[in-house]
Amino acid sequence: MAAVLDSVRAFFAPSTTFTIGAETPADVVARENLLDHAMGPERRMKSSEKIRRGRLPAEGLALVARDGAGHVIGTVRLWNIEAGISQDGTAVDALLLGPLAVDDAHAGKGIGGALMRAAVTEAAHRGHGAVLLVGDAAYYERFGFFADKTRHLVMPGPFERARFLALELKAGWLEGAAGMIVASGRKLA
Ligand SMILES: CC(C)(COP(=O)(O)OP(=O)(O)OC[C@H]1O[C@@H](n2cnc3c(N)ncnc32)[C@H](O)[C@@H]1OP(=O)(O)O)[C@@H](O)C(=O)NCCC(=O)NCCS
Repeated sequence: MAAVLDSVRAFFAPSTTFTIGAETPADVVARENLLDHAMGPERRMKSSEKIRRGRLPAEGLALVARDGAGHVIGTVRLWNIEAGISQDGTAVDALLLGPLAVDDAHAGKGIGGALMRAAVTEAAHRGHGAVLLVGDAAYYERFGFFADKTRHLVMPGPFERARFLALELKAGWLEGAAGMIVASGRKLA
């Protein structure tokens, strides 16, 4: 009976039309409020945050989802990093994705997935070789992110290995990559 009622409610619920686009300076306050609400203030203590602090996101890779009225209801950003060094001793350029968040009033409508696909598509279009992130494998595996790609890499701080995932945009990009993730993006003025 409960399942039937849920279906009826879902049928009559107002549908959300949303668009994905580039974040603008006018979106920053709404994005920060959304992140505080979705992840709490402890989000600033994460190891990933050390990599992002004082840096600008990778060129063209700060995206937001907007509702029909233009309000920010989702956010994702990607950051330039070096994912350790390759076997020949050169730094392995890559991206770190995060945070990803969707306003919980709009959860389960495909907005997170749309943000992920737009981010990965744009990263590939811009010629990047791989995207790494720290997050729930149960969510990110559907987008092709797996922990085996990061097995010789470490974050600069505490992290759970099972949540340290990567997607290669170019085949074999992370093959042999080993060492610590370091920020390599443009610094904030
Ligand atoms: C994770 C998040 C971005 C998903 O956004 P969303 O717009 O609700 O996602 P989608 O509608 O595209 O996908 C929903 C599906 O993902 C699943 N899902 C959501 N979070 C999940 C998680 N942490 N682990 C596994 N599955 C998850 C839902 O159960 C749903 O599954 P279904 O399609 O089988 O019903 C959103 O829940 C959020 O902002 N969470 C708080 C911040 C956060 O945890 N960010 C990610 C860090 S791991």
